[in-house]
Amino acid sequence: MSVIESGSLHSYNAVREIFEQYNDFLITFTIPAPSGMFAFIWPALCYNYKAIPNGRNDRRSRGFAQYSGKPTRYFPEHLQFIQTEKPGTPPPSKSLVFGHTFTNHMLTIPWSSLEGWGTPKIEPYGPLSLEPSSTVLHYAQTIFEGMKAYRDEHGKVTLFRPDMNMKRMNSSAARVSLPTFDSDALLQLIKKLIHIERDWIPREPGHSLYIRPTMIGTQKFIGIAPPSEALLFVICSPVGPYYPDGFKPIALYATTEYIRAAPGGTGAYKLGANYAPAVMPQKQVAKMGYAQNLWLHGPEHYLTEVGTMNMFVVLKKGDAIELVTPPLDGMILPGVTRDSLLSLARDHVSGTYKIPKLPEHFIVSERPITMKEVQEAEASGNLVELFGSGTAAIISPVNRIGYLGKDIHVPTGEDGMGPISRPIWTELVGRQMGTIPSDWSVPVTA
Ligand code: COI
Repeated sequence: MSVIESGSLHSYNAVREIFEQYNDFLITFTIPAPSGMFAFIWPALCYNYKAIPNGRNDRRSRGFAQYSGKPTRYFPEHLQFIQTEKPGTPPPSKSLVFGHTFTNHMLTIPWSSLEGWGTPKIEPYGPLSLEPSSTVLHYAQTIFEGMKAYRDEHGKVTLFRPDMNMKRMNSSAARVSLPTFDSDALLQLIKKLIHIERDWIPREPGHSLYIRPTMIGTQKFIGIAPPSEALLFVICSPVGPYYPDGFKPIALYATTEYIRAAPGGTGAYKLGANYAPAVMPQKQVAKMGYAQNLWLHGPEHYLTEVGTMNMFVVLKKGDAIELVTPPLDGMILPGVTRDSLLSLARDHVSGTYKIPKLPEHFIVSERPITMKEVQEAEASGNLVELFGSGTAAIISPVNRIGYLGKDIHVPTGEDGMGPISRPIWTELVGRQMGTIPSDWSVPVTA
């Protein structure tokens, strides 16, 4: 262990113990202080060894330090395309069940703390090869995004507000010590993948190509630390409505037994680890006839989110209508659809863009709301509607909430959506499908 011999600390065992715990920190001690003419570069060397991603650690296959260099900008230029030799054909849109069908190709980009981002490849969709000791398999070092590509009747392909997904993915990556990346560069690569897979984009209303960017820690290492190797991959799935009943209203169960997130936790990030613990409670409520759990917070039973969706409640307030959604307090996901609905509703209120059929006296609130308030609104006839929003679900009306042994009944419109969600949905989908021109709709070209 030349590292230890060269240090100024005297006890081998003590040093080894510190080394195990504070590997990254100790690196600054591992370069012998030189004498004579090289003495002046010693501080710089020490600094460099911390800045060079995992330099020494990797060679010992330990890897603690995180790549701290700038995200690479150049990687789209190095894209390799390996075309599948067994191309599948897109199934009829009617037969699509959300998340079961995948296109011919996927995008993969490896990362290591030594090299940064490596060569991106668009290659045949297929199994990944992973070490059983990969960090993702033990400590859930995995994040993902959900975005959609649309194709209009002239064949024009667009993405909806993809910059927001890139931003959120970077914030999720940073939260679980996965490497961050250049958003523009990844978006360029995703566009190339979508362009190659464009024939898989269904054109029917309510259908699209769901894009699933994902990142996992792949280092072979069962210690708990930032991984020194990761893989970013993107797969595509042609989809129809998220819920099997299409846009029909769903029933939620406001659970007081389980929680999804807590202050200071990870609820605001799109981590795989936020979703697995929700499956068992969801199975339980499915047996009682509810589609999803509505996650609450605190003894006041504040509404947070549904787990696949953000929540909106519509209340009658005198002669006004209030659209309420819980605030981004760190416990709920900053949804792209949520943000879009709020922005459209606020434009209506300010008069920047009037949405036909929305009331004149309209209030848009990002504020805490409790189950008691929802119960009272039901009792007084002031509960207008309640719906979820998300990339997969778009808008999903809710007709019933199971809460403390009773059901709260929520009014719904004739075809499910209510008087507020329907006009906003029309505006949103128009911008998604490109029938209403908007900056949110980003073209995908070759
Ligand atoms: C999305 O709306 O894109 C989601 O990520 C929900 C998903 C878990 C299906």
